[in-house]
Amino acid sequence: MEEMNKVGIVYGDVSTTEVQVTITGLIDQGEYVQIFHQNSGWVLGRLDRLERKTDLSVEKALLINAGEAVPIQEVLLGYVSIIGYRDNKGILQVPKTPFRAGEPVYKAKDSLIKETIGLENIEGNGAYIGLLYNHMIPIYLDINALVQKHVSILAKTGGGKSYLTGVIIEELIKHNVTTVVIDPHGEYVSLKYPAQQSKSMEKFNVKPKGYPEKIIEFSPDTKTNRNAKPLKFTLSQITPRELLNLINFTDFRAYLVPLRKAMDYLKAAKGNFFLKDLINVLSQDEDSATVNALINALSILDDEGIFSDVGTKIDEIVQNGKVSIINLKGVSPDIQEMVVQRLSYMLFELRKRDALPPLMFVVEEAHNFIPQQGKAMSSKILRTIASEGRKFGLGLCIISQRPAKVDKNILSQCNTQIILKVTNPNDLKTIGDSVEGLTRSSIDEIQNLPVGVALVTGASLAMPLFVEVRPRETKHGGESVNVAGSK
Ligand SMILES: Nc1ncnc2c1ncn2[C@@H]1O[C@H](COP(=O)(O)OP(=O)(O)OP(=O)(O)O)[C@@H](O)[C@H]1O
Ligand SMILES: [Mg+2]
Repeated sequence: MEEMNKVGIVYGDVSTTEVQVTITGLIDQGEYVQIFHQNSGWVLGRLDRLERKTDLSVEKALLINAGEAVPIQEVLLGYVSIIGYRDNKGILQVPKTPFRAGEPVYKAKDSLIKETIGLENIEGNGAYIGLLYNHMIPIYLDINALVQKHVSILAKTGGGKSYLTGVIIEELIKHNVTTVVIDPHGEYVSLKYPAQQSKSMEKFNVKPKGYPEKIIEFSPDTKTNRNAKPLKFTLSQITPRELLNLINFTDFRAYLVPLRKAMDYLKAAKGNFFLKDLINVLSQDEDSATVNALINALSILDDEGIFSDVGTKIDEIVQNGKVSIINLKGVSPDIQEMVVQRLSYMLFELRKRDALPPLMFVVEEAHNFIPQQGKAMSSKILRTIASEGRKFGLGLCIISQRPAKVDKNILSQCNTQIILKVTNPNDLKTIGDSVEGLTRSSIDEIQNLPVGVALVTGASLAMPLFVEVRPRETKHGGESVNVAGSK
């Protein structure tokens, strides 16, 4: 039998949900413990907080300051929150009477943690995202729950969102899940290349591996993103209103009539047409300030080169079991919005007709595409996907460093929430409001998480868990891609 590792003794006032422990052994905050209960058997708890109590008064501290040797009495106290035990029907229960004072507290055995938290049924058969924090227990998330019920990944800048998203995409690749990634910084093409071998890979049982055959890259700007295939749209796909949005003419009234007239004329006369055609037709209009302003703005848009007589076909973009990266590096914010809007619309419509495989749609920098305040062209369709996508096997994965600035309706539709370090009070409040089952102490912990540790809720997990994210198999980040690509 595995030897039990005693770390403390239950003392003081004891309830059924929280227990105070004098710590006598080696244990870290956040570790799981087990305590015997007279009626329930072994019960699992978590050491939420450690505190050192001392008898050092202000006066004595001043004596130390003056160079005197002062003896200090101290004890280490721990606060354990009780998680519970599985009854003989397998249901998670909490003891109905308090624990006895004087009971020894042990480090929890892996088998008890897995059984109580309910990690057994999905083991080895889901998205492997890392190890239970402070333990060597691998955590797998249910792939269907991830894709069908939407995911949000939230953290402050540099908190590890993109790294973790890379981990999740690697797992989606292994499970043949078709994926489309909106990649504003060009960070995800590096999924083609293996990461460098590192020491921590051994602990997590990860090996470097690249997925060049699984990654397809598209971009509206193939000058900046030279390896990408061109992503083009036809003008006939877009409405006069959308076009005005693109050139930032938000006060439509004056412009809508001449623009619509010209677009209708060209549609009837030519079918597909170019911005140059549109500019030509408008130039034949009477010479007014309105029309001239339109012509100028459309000429600037023309330089972006996003419109073509043949649009990129969606079944070229989305391919079964592959990851399509929409690289928006170097693309202006208005065009980015339009790309996301058009693409979201096409994915939703075609998925509804089952003309595309079920897929995961990953949206980085989501606050730009679904802002809580103000409008983005892409807001409406993404809201529709968030509320109806699951019926059609179209999953959303929303990533943002400013949770408070993301459309709350959409955030609350995300069944799986993965939260890394967050310190901004507004963002913490948003998270507290939108994530079910978060305790006050978990919210405090979120502020102090080391990079690479995430709080994961939902995705078929019975309770929120802290997870140490596994190392990437593939290279992380955009910067180093060119180096690897040119070798
Ligand atoms: N799980 C991890 N293991 C090891 N290193 C990590 C981990 N997560 C993040 N890092 C490191 O931290 C850095 C920042 O991570 P990342 O790029 O994912 O942040 P981010 O949250 O996406 O930031 P931003 O908001 O700026 O996009 C990375 O360069 C990476 O090296
Ligand atoms: Mg990032």
